[in-house]
Amino acid sequence: MKNSSLTICLSIGYPLKNSKSPAIHNAGYRALGLQAEYAFLPAQVRPENLEKTINGLKDLGIRGVSVTMPYKEEVMKYLDEIDSVALKIGAVNTIVNRNGKLTGYNTDWKGALVALEKKTKVDGKKVAVIGAGGAARAIVYALVKNGAEVKIFNRSVDKAEELAHEFGCEFGDLDSLSEVVSSDIIINTTSVGMNEDLSLVDESFLNKRQIVFDIVYTPKETRLIKTAKEKGAQVIYGYEMLLYQGIEQFKMYTEMEAPAEEMEKALLESL
Ligand code: ATR
Repeated sequence: MKNSSLTICLSIGYPLKNSKSPAIHNAGYRALGLQAEYAFLPAQVRPENLEKTINGLKDLGIRGVSVTMPYKEEVMKYLDEIDSVALKIGAVNTIVNRNGKLTGYNTDWKGALVALEKKTKVDGKKVAVIGAGGAARAIVYALVKNGAEVKIFNRSVDKAEELAHEFGCEFGDLDSLSEVVSSDIIINTTSVGMNEDLSLVDESFLNKRQIVFDIVYTPKETRLIKTAKEKGAQVIYGYEMLLYQGIEQFKMYTEMEAPAEEMEKALLESL
């Protein structure tokens, strides 16, 4: 059953508080005059209902789903097909329904790469990635694919080692974080700084030659971002990665170019 007049997309997660995807996508539809044809809605899905929900997408004719915490890995087992990059990253944040066939993609890596490339090419750059979770996997994939020299620093050093081994990078623990002073780019992929005035990176490790990227977007100005600015470094905000990964999704769901400026404005207003 496909509702012929309205194309519906969802964001799913649990708990799904403050998902920014509806604001970003609906702003895009409005900017293109498509608000009567497309709608993007938040749908909180309890863990015991995930499989049923994914199977139900076909019957309901849902066009696409933005998958967020904690389902980016689990959702993979309920899809018909998974794109090779999402397989390599090991996570799906985007589902597209084409004539009843569900395909999983990952747009997080692209979001991070576009955000970085607004400031610099990553080829040949020395990059410190802090954290070794799901977000780090997508970012390390983007960096290595584009020729960066990556070192992963993580609290649990065994996780850093595993990720570094898989992608051909170096690794270290958080006690060796002072090394980042010589990095061209520093990326925080941990949740440290989210709704708290804390940073893993001491101000003495930061300087004006660096680009500092914090993927945390609440608050917009994290402790790390504030300190980096004080030290004269260039900064990349977490909301930028969120915006550009959403723009990639928008293109897949609508098969149209995304109105980036209007989507960015809506995202900033929702923060
Ligand atoms: P995500 O999918 O958002 O990346 P995740 O897979 O749970 O989330 O990964 C969280 C990352 O943040 C991990 O690298 C975690 O370190 P550990 O592997 O040691 O758990 C890191 N992290 C979270 N809280 C942290 C803290 N207080 N100090 C240092 N690292 C932290």
